[in-house]
Amino acid sequence: MAGRIEGKVAVVTGGASGIGLAIARRFVAEGARVVLGDIDGAGLAAAAAELGDACRTVTGSVTVEADVEALFAAARTHFGGADVAVANAGAGGFALLVDHPLEEWQRVIDLCLTGVFLTMKHAGRHLREGGCVITIASLNAVQPAEGMAAYCAAKAGVAMLTQVAAMELGHLGLRAVCIGPGWSAPTPRPPCSRCPAWSTSSSRTPRSTASPSRPTWPPSPCSSRPTRRRS
Ligand SMILES: NC(=O)c1ccc[n+]([C@@H]2O[C@H](COP(=O)([O-])OP(=O)(O)OC[C@H]3O[C@@H](n4cnc5c(N)ncnc54)[C@H](O)[C@@H]3O)[C@@H](O)[C@H]2O)c1
Repeated sequence: MAGRIEGKVAVVTGGASGIGLAIARRFVAEGARVVLGDIDGAGLAAAAAELGDACRTVTGSVTVEADVEALFAAARTHFGGADVAVANAGAGGFALLVDHPLEEWQRVIDLCLTGVFLTMKHAGRHLREGGCVITIASLNAVQPAEGMAAYCAAKAGVAMLTQVAAMELGHLGLRAVCIGPGWSAPTPRPPCSRCPAWSTSSSRTPRSTASPSRPTWPPSPCSSRPTRRRS
């Protein structure tokens, strides 16, 4: 059933690949036009070539407020405004708490949580009444995983932030929805010999499902478990 969002305009962060690109493809197939943001300029160019006139792109980071504003400005300039914002850009890191470098913690929190905050902030300012903010959290918003403290904390924050947004943006006639995907691999990643649980040539499910605390979303390019330093 195509055309369900005919005429709508969506801003999608992290739209050059993976889940963001899949969302953009589906939105366009359903009649929407999209503005894709990403730091990957080459990936954006490929997406624009594929999606044609229904797509515009803006190269920039969700961690930079001016770049996020530029997405909504592009929607206004090219398509007359925006109805949907998908705060999708995100990526994990991998370190045990006791070894976690502060800068790596801050990188993941900036990308996965602050980036969503900035996208919501400007969505709230610019989306047309009746619009919707969609955040892409993770199963790790509710399920802890060893070695993924920053990612889990950020995604739990995204889930809560979305609830706050639903309360605040509701007064502006906007909805806020949080989606928590499980493990999927829309963008092929190179196999990693040090990581038995992850290989593009095997399956998308981990080898063992015995432990609920094993990593559920290995970050790219290598998801091997860290070894604890003993000093
Ligand atoms: N793939 C999974 O299994 C899975 C599971 C749960 C949640 N998620 C979440 O889904 C979202 C998309 O993940 P994916 O698997 O499609 O990843 P991906 O790596 O395929 O795509 C992420 C995109 O975000 C872009 N990006 C990275 N940093 C950015 C920045 N600072 N500003 C703008 N764009 C940036 C990347 O260039 C890339 O195009 C993420 O938030 C991720 O945490 C993914």
